[in-house]
Amino acid sequence: MSGITKEWIRDLQTKVDAAQLIQQYVTLEKSGNGYKGKCPFHQDNTPSFYVYPNEHRYHCFGCGEHGDLITFIQKQRNLSFMEAIETLAQFAGVEVPRQLSSHAVDAQARKNMKLYETMAAASSVFQKALQKNSQAKEYMESRGIKTQIAKKYGLGYAPKSFDYLKGALADTSERILLECGLLVNKEDGKYYDKFRDRIMFPIHDLNGREVGFGGRSLTDKVPKYLNSPETPLFRKGELLYGFHLVRSARVKLDNVIVVEGYTDVVMLAQHGFQNVVAPLGTALTNLQIQLLKRLSKQIVFCFDGDEAGQKATWRALENCYSQLEQGQTYQIVSLPQGYDPDSYVNDFGVERFQALIAAAPLSSKYFFDTLQAQYDLKSPESRMGMAEQAQTVIQKIPYEPFRELMIQELARITGVTLKRTINPSIKKNKKSFEDSLESPTERITKFHSNGNVPQGERHILKTLLYEMKFIHLLARRDLERYLEFQNNSLLFDVIARIHRNKLESFSELISSYDPKSWEYEQLQRIAKEGIPKIRGDAHYDALHGGIQAWLTKCQKQKRAINLIKNVRKKS
Ligand code: UTP
Ligand code: MN
Repeated sequence: MSGITKEWIRDLQTKVDAAQLIQQYVTLEKSGNGYKGKCPFHQDNTPSFYVYPNEHRYHCFGCGEHGDLITFIQKQRNLSFMEAIETLAQFAGVEVPRQLSSHAVDAQARKNMKLYETMAAASSVFQKALQKNSQAKEYMESRGIKTQIAKKYGLGYAPKSFDYLKGALADTSERILLECGLLVNKEDGKYYDKFRDRIMFPIHDLNGREVGFGGRSLTDKVPKYLNSPETPLFRKGELLYGFHLVRSARVKLDNVIVVEGYTDVVMLAQHGFQNVVAPLGTALTNLQIQLLKRLSKQIVFCFDGDEAGQKATWRALENCYSQLEQGQTYQIVSLPQGYDPDSYVNDFGVERFQALIAAAPLSSKYFFDTLQAQYDLKSPESRMGMAEQAQTVIQKIPYEPFRELMIQELARITGVTLKRTINPSIKKNKKSFEDSLESPTERITKFHSNGNVPQGERHILKTLLYEMKFIHLLARRDLERYLEFQNNSLLFDVIARIHRNKLESFSELISSYDPKSWEYEQLQRIAKEGIPKIRGDAHYDALHGGIQAWLTKCQKQKRAINLIKNVRKKS
């Protein structure tokens, strides 16, 4: 069979150096016979993302994402299966067979392609309409937006008509236009242009393709901005306005500036800033913070100088702190009341704005200043109040040295010293051996004084988490013996779960536990420790041997416990 077959796809992957490919997106370091780095698919503080070049696969032991090079490209770049194959083939310098059998072409890919095309076509219709409409041009002039920057951002105009776009894109079906969010359904059952008499700001995905629009009213008619609905291409929480231009600017950025509005991004760009992005009218999501981190280690927030802006800043900071990493700094610019970056630059000039950015206080100063403005620190009550409010944020900081320093600073200001173990993830289970004997159902593993899984069991688990399919090869007789210890050892609980629920991946396993449970925490920790040393078939033998040895150890331990209990009863 010609075309794209399973064999062809497998062959394609062997032609690609997995590390070289993934290195484009993730900083990798050597680890055993593979590589590791910080996972691009979740907020990763320690490198838990592993690349196995010999197998052309990757696996994240933090979040469970795993797969081959095609799934990697698909997820990383938000592409369809076919698009990912194209990309990979390009990387490998291989020609994709053209005579595709129709079923081999991914239907979703074809549809997405059509949606992308339509969005691009709509954007160009709007851009042309802007050039032809004098009112719209006047508006742009009144805002001080020059033609050159309008072109760079693809700004356009949706005329005051219910079927201008529909007419201009008459070749495209209503269904596609609707799916793109460009039409709306009226009571009469007919479809009309969604955007009318608005300046159009196209919103691009990370690769610079048009996926949505923000339409600003020329008057201050409500809503001031009308935005595209969520579509198969457009997910507000996963994009930042201006991201693709910052990324493609190819200049070394000192920092990245986050503003609230589309016009702020555009106007600052006009003044030479190549490092400005904005969320899409909603609070900053964790994913957007991840995107920011991909641009720079220094993030400067410059939201509007009003109450809403201050609230948004606090909320953003809270979110950023909850995923703070080593080396990451946040700064906050507070604009004068009533100003946004656009109007500030207009009134005071770009030098003054630059000076504000350069002198922007670090987030910790902003944090404590903001709190101190709310509490007069003369009474113990208000000092306590401030400490409590601060604590809710500080306790979420995962990076321990910074959390510690924030606790010290809070103590200096309020005199209140918070408990050191406020981060739930560092809370240890400190049951003594004696305590555990009082409740025989307690896990043997918890006897370990620091509450962690003992070394030997850890090692087996680490291997098992990577080779989960091994469990399905275990003999039934063995399984029954393991199940006897299900409540005593994490290892056997894991084996039982994998077997019973036919689990196939680490992500399935971990999601079968309560995220607040001891087991969940331990498994994540073990998984993050790294690539198991043995590979290939030797794996199975080693794993089997390890499990058997652990089983024997548990049996001995159980006998010992029973022995002690019997002695106690007698005495
Ligand atoms: P702003 O009202 O600050 O907008 O809202 P702006 O960009 O400064 O606009 P101009 O200068 O008045 O023209 C900030 C952002 O909030 C979203 C938009 O993303 C906007 O850029 N927003 C605002 C909406 O989605 N809908 C609205 O009605 C208003
Ligand atoms: Mn604004």
